Order: sequence, then structure tokens, then C-alpha cells
Amino acid sequence: MFLALILFAFLSADPIWEDFSAWFSAEGTPGTPAEVLNAYAGKLKSRGLPPAEIDQRVASVRKYLADNPRQALALHFDRMYTWTEAPFSRQPSDLVTKVASTLKPGKALDIAMGQGRNAIWLAKAGWTVSGYDISPEAIRQARHAASSAGLSLDAKLASHDEYPLGEAQWDLIVMSFAFTRLSDADYMKRVHASLKPCGVLLIEGFNGGPRPGDPNMIIKAFLDYRVLLFEDLPGIADWGKSKAPLLRMALEKR
Ligand SMILES: C[S@@+](CC[C@H](N)C(=O)[O-])C[C@H]1O[C@@H](n2cnc3c(N)ncnc32)[C@H](O)[C@@H]1O
Repeated sequence: MFLALILFAFLSADPIWEDFSAWFSAEGTPGTPAEVLNAYAGKLKSRGLPPAEIDQRVASVRKYLADNPRQALALHFDRMYTWTEAPFSRQPSDLVTKVASTLKPGKALDIAMGQGRNAIWLAKAGWTVSGYDISPEAIRQARHAASSAGLSLDAKLASHDEYPLGEAQWDLIVMSFAFTRLSDADYMKRVHASLKPCGVLLIEGFNGGPRPGDPNMIIKAFLDYRVLLFEDLPGIADWGKSKAPLLRMALEKR
């Protein structure tokens, strides 16, 4: 036990993090940090590590996750995309296929594109598609799907802070369960500026349930646009695959 603690003292945070991320990437189940760290503690126990060392390693990983939110999110989603039982749809979203089918194909941007379920559908439908995501595995899978289908796709590894949305660039922007906050006014302004006039913005995701104070707060934030579609109904979410309050919007820039 004493020897194990001495050895532990010589391990920097990185080897501990590397051991954790190698384990999680190969056999972890995505969940809350507490669930994941609990499962990791079980793994360390099954390897015969003493309780004091397990506690210290888990504390070190917990701190690393808190200090490095980007790596934590990327690791979570990388695993989501390699985990065969991951509860999300690999089919294009109904909102994207329904609305984009009514539009003349042009330049489309898929924000937080994941493994490319919507981007690939759009590229097949004749759109010139770009997209970005924070997960290297998502980008790898999206590029692979595009090249296997003989499609062109500009998929970049980038976060919302980094990706240059540009000005009057896009005929269509897709934000499908895109891990953005609609209340992030600066980001939503950049999205608006990056659409061409008459360009369409599609937004869908969890809506967090009714807002007792101002039930129409969300739609009011988008009245600069022409509202083509607004839906605030429970349904089976493409992500999670269970019933949840969902928001779906199609908005045309005026
Ligand atoms: C729920 S998934 C949705 C993926 C895809 N839009 C779809 O509908 O299948 C959320 C995606 O957001 C990405 N993501 C999370 N935070 C991000 C950030 N700050 N910048 C870019 N992408 C991010 C994740 O890697 C993940 O692929």
C-alpha cells in the first residue's frame, strides 16, 4: 500500500488522465461525471489498486475534467460516436429533411454536426455542405461517410468560439441538438449575420419544458426572422431516444 502511494506520487496528472481516457474510450459508458467516475473507480478496484490510490486517482481525474471542459466534452462525444449502443439516431432529422426539401440547394452549414447524419443527407440532396464539431471522432466519421459516398464535405474540428461563421455566407444553417445556448445573444447574432438574406435557420433540441414567467420567450427572441415553422411539443428526441419536450423552428432571414 505504501509502495503504491509512493508510485502514485511519481505519476503526474497526465498519465492518470491518459489511463482514464484510454479506459473510457474503449469501454466507458457515457453518463454524468459522477456515474463515469464511479464506474472508473470500480475498474481500478478490479485491477487490485488500494482504496487510497483509487480515491486519489479519481480526485485527480475529477479535477482534470473540471479544469478542461473542452477535452471532457470531446471525450464524452468521441465515446458516444464509437459506442454501438449509443442512444441517438444516425438518420437525418425530420426537421432537416422536411424543410430543406422545400428549398433550392445552396451553401449549408451544419453547426455541431456530430457524425454527419444531417450533413450527409444535405450533400446527397445537392447542397454544398460545411460543418464543424468539437469531437475528433465525429469529424472522422463524417468525413469517412462523405468520402465513402463520393460526396464533398468540408468538416472541421472546431468549437463554437473558433469556427468563423462569416458574413452573409449561408443559404441554410442547421442547429440540430447543437449544444449551443439560444440565450447566447452574441453567438446567435453571429449566426444571423452569417446567413444570406432569405437564408433559413433550422433549430431543434430540448426546450427544457414550459416557462411559467413568459411562455413565449423563445419565439420572441426570433421575431427578426420570418417564422416558417415553430413547434413546442413533446416527442421522441433523436438524442436520448426518449420522450422529451422538444423545440423545432425554421426561420427565414428577412
Ligand atoms: C447532441 S450532439 C448533436 C450532433 C448532431 N448535430 C446531431 O444532431 O446528430 C451535440 C454535438 O455538439 C458537439 N459540441 C459540444 N460542444 C461543442 C462546442 N463547444 N463546439 C462545437 N461542437 C460542440 C458535440 O461534440 C456533439 O457532436
